[in-house]
Amino acid sequence: MGDRWYSEAVVYCLDVDTYVDSDGDGIGDLRGLIGRLDYLARLGVTCIWLNPIHPSPNKDDGYDATDFYAVDPRLGTLGDFAELLHQAQNRGIRVIIDLVVNHTSDQHPWFQSARSSPDSPYRDWYVWSDTEPDDRHQGMVFPGEQHETWSYDRTAKAWYYHRFYRFQPDLNIDNPKVREEIKKITSFWLQLGVAGFRMDAVPFIIEQTEPGNPNSPKDFEFLTELRQHVQWRRGDAVLLAEANVEPDQLSVYFGDGGGSSNRIHMLFDFMLNGRLMLALAREDPETIIDALRDTPKLPMGAQWATFLRNHDEIDLSRLTADQRNDVLAAFGPTEEMQLYGRGIRRRLAPMLGNDRRRLELAYALQFSLRGTPVLRYGEEIGMGEDLSLPGREAIRTPMQWSFKPNAGFSTAEEEKLVRPVIDKGEFGYQKVNVTAQRSDPRSLLAWFERMIRTLREAPEIGSGSTSHIDVPAPAGVLAHRADGPTGTMVFLHNLGTDDVEVDLSTLEAEADLPIDVLSDRGYGELGKLGAIKLSGHGYRWIRLCRGQGF
Ligand code: NOJ
Repeated sequence: MGDRWYSEAVVYCLDVDTYVDSDGDGIGDLRGLIGRLDYLARLGVTCIWLNPIHPSPNKDDGYDATDFYAVDPRLGTLGDFAELLHQAQNRGIRVIIDLVVNHTSDQHPWFQSARSSPDSPYRDWYVWSDTEPDDRHQGMVFPGEQHETWSYDRTAKAWYYHRFYRFQPDLNIDNPKVREEIKKITSFWLQLGVAGFRMDAVPFIIEQTEPGNPNSPKDFEFLTELRQHVQWRRGDAVLLAEANVEPDQLSVYFGDGGGSSNRIHMLFDFMLNGRLMLALAREDPETIIDALRDTPKLPMGAQWATFLRNHDEIDLSRLTADQRNDVLAAFGPTEEMQLYGRGIRRRLAPMLGNDRRRLELAYALQFSLRGTPVLRYGEEIGMGEDLSLPGREAIRTPMQWSFKPNAGFSTAEEEKLVRPVIDKGEFGYQKVNVTAQRSDPRSLLAWFERMIRTLREAPEIGSGSTSHIDVPAPAGVLAHRADGPTGTMVFLHNLGTDDVEVDLSTLEAEADLPIDVLSDRGYGELGKLGAIKLSGHGYRWIRLCRGQGF
């Protein structure tokens, strides 16, 4: 693996409290996770991203911390965390954690002190207004659930700012002490051995909020400062950021210092995510082709993180009304599948009708497009959602390990579980679980292992450049390539249902000994790159040539 390990990584995101419970209290924990590292190593994961692990009232699944220097006692101890880092490292797996510093919980001692008196040393750690701001009802990230971004605090006798829920007061980035504290938090965890951070809500962290100004300026220099700090502490540490902003804004988040990224290393590709969903819904790759064409050239060291699903709803806000309607019609037709009209609260397997062919196609696409793939736990076995749970909890049910009660997640009484296990229907744990799939070479899990192994053998996907190939391809087919010093791969993905042929003869001159390294079925010897067969919803990853010296 090259120096920039994150370019060739496979990231696996999980929430410790719904992964595995080792002590039978109904809540997943770090010791449970340690016991499953071998499973993750076999799957081929090289980096685990843990959703928030800090003490928290858990009103937003841990994205409301009360202490950034500790581990939530429900999950274990700091000692368990250090052990996790050690055991993961032994298996070549890095661990990154969520850094949620746009806000704290309103129960955080800093906020408790800040609200108690204007003279508190923490007063200026948050964003206040003595009078009611005009833009109080603007800028909500969770419209429908949240009605304002400024709330009145009776103890403080002032209004405080919160981009998210009212129990998540925003920290004041203009305060040098807050900036120092954020750096100190990163130092602490880096010193323990984490490989970096998934930074929550970055556009809001750097917001220099002015009451009454819904378009407050942003302090991008803080990102430069933070990057420098993190890199000084640990040279290969990575910042993977959530910045769901307009595409033309993204480059400023990556930063460019003399041709190299000097701010965020990796950004989640929200734009591609929406377009992938649309392409799957319409069975038409056009929007992906646009994405490949429009992608700005990244400064050195910058990288996309691609994903199909994450722990939140699918955000459709960057699609046009027509596009959004098509995605909703295909994947979230009923109101209960949607989240206040702003997105879809479902997992991928049910969205694709649990159709194995379409699932493989979707993941083969994700993994072959530029960037580092990020998977969410349970995707590898095709888990479903529980729409009877409120909001985003629908997609946060416990991992389904086996046929045992509670899916082998926990030995606790059912009522004690952190969240109910899916135990009915097509996606119930009796049908969808790791144990069943591990012993079946044709399972989705076995397929994921194979695909990830293939990806590891093709570093040009993560580290090279990816482009659309303009070959005469039938509607519904995406042809693209990845080029790097290690060689060239060509990919065909058929989003449509008909069997087709694609003419790749223009690539013949570049081909060394072309072979299928991953495909939906055996297509026989590839031979000459003439008319290449492709089944409906089929895919072929073809190695065209190896780079010199590889
Ligand atoms: C983004 C996270 O992904 C989401 O789950 C959370 O609710 C908000 N940030 C607030 O921290």
